[in-house]
Amino acid sequence: MVRPQKRGAEHAAVAHPNIALIKYWGKRDEQLVLPRVDSLSMTLDIFPTTTRVRPAPGADHDVVTLNGAPAEGEALRRVVAFLDLVRSRAGQELRAVVDSENTVPTGAGLASSASGFAALAVAAAAAYGLDLDATALSRLARRGSGSASRSLFGGFALWHAGPPHATGKQADLGSYAEPVPAADLDPALVIAVVNAGPKAISSREAMRRTVDTSPLYEPWARSSADDLTEMRAALRRADLEAVGEIAERNALGMHATMLAARPAVRYLAPATLTVLDSVLQLRRDGIPAYTTMDAGPNVKVLCHRADADRVAETVRAAAPGGSVLVAGPGPGARLLPGDGR
Ligand code: DP6
Repeated sequence: MVRPQKRGAEHAAVAHPNIALIKYWGKRDEQLVLPRVDSLSMTLDIFPTTTRVRPAPGADHDVVTLNGAPAEGEALRRVVAFLDLVRSRAGQELRAVVDSENTVPTGAGLASSASGFAALAVAAAAAYGLDLDATALSRLARRGSGSASRSLFGGFALWHAGPPHATGKQADLGSYAEPVPAADLDPALVIAVVNAGPKAISSREAMRRTVDTSPLYEPWARSSADDLTEMRAALRRADLEAVGEIAERNALGMHATMLAARPAVRYLAPATLTVLDSVLQLRRDGIPAYTTMDAGPNVKVLCHRADADRVAETVRAAAPGGSVLVAGPGPGARLLPGDGR
């Protein structure tokens, strides 16, 4: 493991996105980013984000560059708020220069905020001299974006919602991710990017509206707890068919809660449904393949690695204008040696 160098030096970290098989949807505390449900994800081995943080003596504001362009608006506000949190923990006031290279198509429902805030948490904690273990880094990353708490870990990770009635420090301490054992699953996630453009409504806003107005939200949240129990058992016995079935119903249920929100939130596009149909056909042809969708129209298909090429070919034919990528389980977030260059 790479240890932080001296405080004040530039530190670089890398993190990968994760895709939830049991979804995080709905917060009980927006400020602390405490979820209403536990969630479980697979960290991917593609689309890493590399982030460098350098405290800048004398600077009067943070300078944040995302993919070579100055960050602005909401993206800048979220990074500065996150740095403020790190500074308050470290008892420091120095502004920072942050440079983040993100290979995920931003805003396409492919969880760029997860890899982004996981890498930022690791790099910023090191740059400001906070010596945090992986659990504490997961809690910290959560404050940037909930799903980032899971990208601290490789393979499968479970993010605990924490005790539902705890407040303040106790609530913060109770909500973190940890690795989940999965025996010999050898999974692949085939990602059908049917639309890489930014989404019409942020997941943050959409989950708020769903919790506030959807009559389907509470029933889904309750059934999601059962899904999680079954999912953990399926992972333990390396039962990919069961893992896929549970993930698919959990995601469709989450989208049902949004469709019932007032006004409705609909991320699924016509091309999404065409891909879902092609996956159903694969199953009828005897290939175990299961879908999950996040806050966007893209479809991720869980299958055996040995079937990934066949699945990729099928979804490519179903969504001819889009692109298709194949991912496997990836590593957790880590500090890079030196400044990472
Ligand atoms: C649909 O983690 O992006 O991808 O905490 O508001 O930043 P914030 O939300 P975010 O939401 C991800 C929602 C999801 C499901 C999931 O990843 O579990």
